[in-house]
Amino acid sequence: MEEMRQRVIGLAAEAAMSEDPSGWFEQIYTEAEGDWSQVPWADQRANPLFSSWLDRHFPTPPHNGAKALVIGCGLGDDAVYLERAGWKVNAFDISQTAIDWAEKIHPDSMVDWRVANLLEPPVEWFSSFDLVVEIHILQAMAQAPRQDAAEVLTKLLNEQGLLVCIGRLSNSEVEVIGPPWPLAKDWILAIGQGCELQEFSESRRQDDEPDTLRFRAVWKR
Ligand SMILES: C[S@@+](CC[C@H](N)C(=O)[O-])C[C@H]1O[C@@H](n2cnc3c(N)ncnc32)[C@H](O)[C@@H]1O
Repeated sequence: MEEMRQRVIGLAAEAAMSEDPSGWFEQIYTEAEGDWSQVPWADQRANPLFSSWLDRHFPTPPHNGAKALVIGCGLGDDAVYLERAGWKVNAFDISQTAIDWAEKIHPDSMVDWRVANLLEPPVEWFSSFDLVVEIHILQAMAQAPRQDAAEVLTKLLNEQGLLVCIGRLSNSEVEVIGPPWPLAKDWILAIGQGCELQEFSESRRQDDEPDTLRFRAVWKR
């Protein structure tokens, strides 16, 4: 685990000095050669903080045709979870290999998989979604693109749309060497400016380091 973490930190640092600061994501997926255990964030299940929220808020399927967008979907487990819960799902990632891989391992899925960049989403996505899901993307981005990316999120919501963000929460003043970079609470809360905050919760996971803190934030437009 520690070896993988150091590799991610090294790749991201190298990429930050290159012309393609996001290129390291693609590198992780290609070098994994189809072995999910070599992708540090892949665990073949939907994120538990997300699935528990979805199950509680939508115990029955949403209205017919309700549309969800999964940002930086990786191998697609959250997208497929949503689809099974009755959503029409668009899911995208900046990595072509991740998208090809997600399509391959979810052959029966009707999810609309797409290669796209959160910093320049297709125009037709603006103001379009009933639900936008961001899990572990902002915390994996360096500071400058992260700020730009955060400003896109609420613009993807339709008039009643919900935004769910999940990640690591910063719990000290000590600067962490990332990625992932735990996010400060004030910074997270600013993501949903102009929307109504429905939830901000903090939790710990049994399999995490003792000082790792997680958050889930939900806003309604
Ligand atoms: C830490 S992984 C998390 C993947 C997935 N959400 C999960 O929780 O397993 C971050 C993902 O975001 C993708 N990503 C990074 N920057 C992106 C961007 N600008 N636009 C779209 N996807 C991006 C990466 O390729 C990677 O799949």
